[in-house]
Order: sequence, then structure tokens, then C-alpha cells
Amino acid sequence: MTSVTALFSPVEDDLRVLNQNLRELVGARHPILFAAADHLFQAGGKQLRPAIVLLVSRATMPDRDITSRHRRLAEITEMIHTASLVHDDVLDESELRRGIPTVHSSFGNRVAVLAGDFLFAKSSWYLANLNDLEVVKLLSQVIVDLAEGEIQQGLSRFDADLSLEAYLEKSYYKTASLIANSSKAAAVLSGVSPEMANHLYYYGRDVGLAFQIVDDILDFTGTTETLGKPAASDLRSGNLTAPVLYALEEQPLLETLIAREFAEPDDLDRALALIEESNGIERSRTLAAEHTRLAIEHLECLPASESRQALTNLADYILRRLY
Ligand code: IPE
Ligand code: IPE
Ligand code: MG
Ligand code: MG
Repeated sequence: MTSVTALFSPVEDDLRVLNQNLRELVGARHPILFAAADHLFQAGGKQLRPAIVLLVSRATMPDRDITSRHRRLAEITEMIHTASLVHDDVLDESELRRGIPTVHSSFGNRVAVLAGDFLFAKSSWYLANLNDLEVVKLLSQVIVDLAEGEIQQGLSRFDADLSLEAYLEKSYYKTASLIANSSKAAAVLSGVSPEMANHLYYYGRDVGLAFQIVDDILDFTGTTETLGKPAASDLRSGNLTAPVLYALEEQPLLETLIAREFAEPDDLDRALALIEESNGIERSRTLAAEHTRLAIEHLECLPASESRQALTNLADYILRRLY
């Protein structure tokens, strides 16, 4: 598998600056709040979202260097993402993230909720300081969408009637909205036409949906060690993702097991076996591939550049995580 670093080569230096800045930007008066907010930045994630923002910035500024506002937008995007993970891990009662203990398992739920809020608030402050009302609107909508996505997911736990459309809508709110709106915001900061900005929104949307579908497949096929977060946890907690929704069409018994919330001792193992026997994983791969294909089509509006090529490769990389 191509390493993520090789994929990000046009923005490698930019990401180094971003890492230095992020930890300075989260400065908090109270040491506990600082430690909790900084906790996940130390571990560092894949940095897919800021890399996309920086690549879109470069691809839409073919003749000029990117500005400090593009860089700040990338930092804000990673800050919002990290805040959402801190809250998501509280809701999922998850113990591991980026290969280290989650914020709530190290500092407790109260501090984790406050640390997430703190990061959202800090990101809003830096966002306002970009002094671009359209960009403020785009990224504020993301913070609303993240809450909407978590609520939708929470309310549909163990609901075997959940439709694929509802699953994709939830995935848009939880994951794709941030990538879509931050890509568009980078294009807006470059001053491109509204049409081009919209294409970049759709690129981010389809990349985001593919990314979430792949994450949901990896929850079944990956290991805790390679993922740096607990595997095999979605089904157990009643979060019914693409592989399960497809398997439900083939395996009626699965519905019974889910409806009784795996109350009998082997229910969860039986459900996992039924999913494995079904075409659920394969069909989910096809669905993810369809979204990466759509994403790449939206890049046609951009002039050829190594950053545009990297955005294409990145969409392919998302699928290659599965092999
Ligand atoms: C995790 O995102 C949350 C999902 C949307 C699936 P990433 O897998 O990008 O997490 P990090 O930032 O690399 O830790
Ligand atoms: C994405 O969903 C998380 C957010 C966008 C907050 P998941 O619940 O699948 O993320 P992981 O698997 O915990 O990283
Ligand atoms: Mg989670
Ligand atoms: Mg997941």
C-alpha cells in the first residue's frame, strides 16, 4: 500500500507547519483542559482532511502560493475533526483512538465533553478570524451536521428497518459534511467560480461517503492493532452500517438477532457469521468504489497539477485501505 505520506507529497511541508501550529492554537488557561485537548494531537492521525484542504488550496491556486488563510482553514478542519472524535468516543464508550487511550478514558467523561466543546469553540474563533462570511457559514454548518449525525445514529441503534438512504444521510452528517464543506471553503478562499467551488464540495462529499463506508467495512475486517481503535465494535453497539444493511436483505435471521439486541450468548457471533457468509462486505466495497469514482469526476474542472493528481490518488487510496 502506498504510504499516506507519499500521497500527500505536494503538501508535505504544509502539513509539518500545520502540526506545529495545531498544538499552539489549542492553548488553554487550565492545564487539564490543555492536556485533554492536546492529547489526540500528540498521537497524530492520518490527517486526511487537512491534506485535502491543502491540496484543494494548491490545486485552485495554480500560479500563486497558498495563503495563510488556506493554512488556517486546514488547521481549523483538523481541530473540528478531532473535537468530533473526542465526543464520538464518549458516545461509543470507546477506549482507544490513534493507538492511545481516548480522552474520556484518560481524563473522564466530564473533561472529555468539555475538551470537545473547547476545541469546537476554539475552531469557531479562528474561523471567525478568517473574516470571510461564506467560509464561516460553511464550517459552522459542519458543526451542526456533526451533532445531527450523532443524534441520528443514536436514535437508530438496533433498528433493522434502517434504510441504506438513511445510513448514507447519517454518514453525510457525521463524516462527509466536514470534508465537503472544508474543500469548498478552500476553493472559496482561492476566489474560484461558484461552479468550481461546488465541484469541490461534491468531491469532498463523495470522498467522505466512501471513507465512512470503508471505515465501516474495516470495523468488520480490520484489527484493533492496525486501526489504532477498537475493531468489531459497530454491530455490538447496534450501529448498523452498510455491510449489515446489505446482509439483512439476504439473511432474515439476522433481523431477529438484531431486534433482540444480541440478548442470547452467541447472538453476536452468529450475526457476524451471517454477515461474513453474505455479500454484504463485497457490496459495500462496490458502493464505496462508486463514490470514489464520482468524487474523481468532480476534479475534471481543475487545471492539471500535481495537487489535482494527489486528490485523485487519495480517492483511490481510500479504497486500497481495504486490501
Ligand atoms: C475517523 O477518522 C472517523 C471517521 C470518519 C471514520 P479518521 O480515520 O480520519 O481518523 P484519524 O484522524 O486518522 O485518527
Ligand atoms: C465517524 O464515525 C466519527 C465521526 C465523524 C465523529 P465512527 O464512529 O465510525 O468513527 P470511529 O470508527 O469511531 O473512528
Ligand atoms: Mg466511533
Ligand atoms: Mg467507525
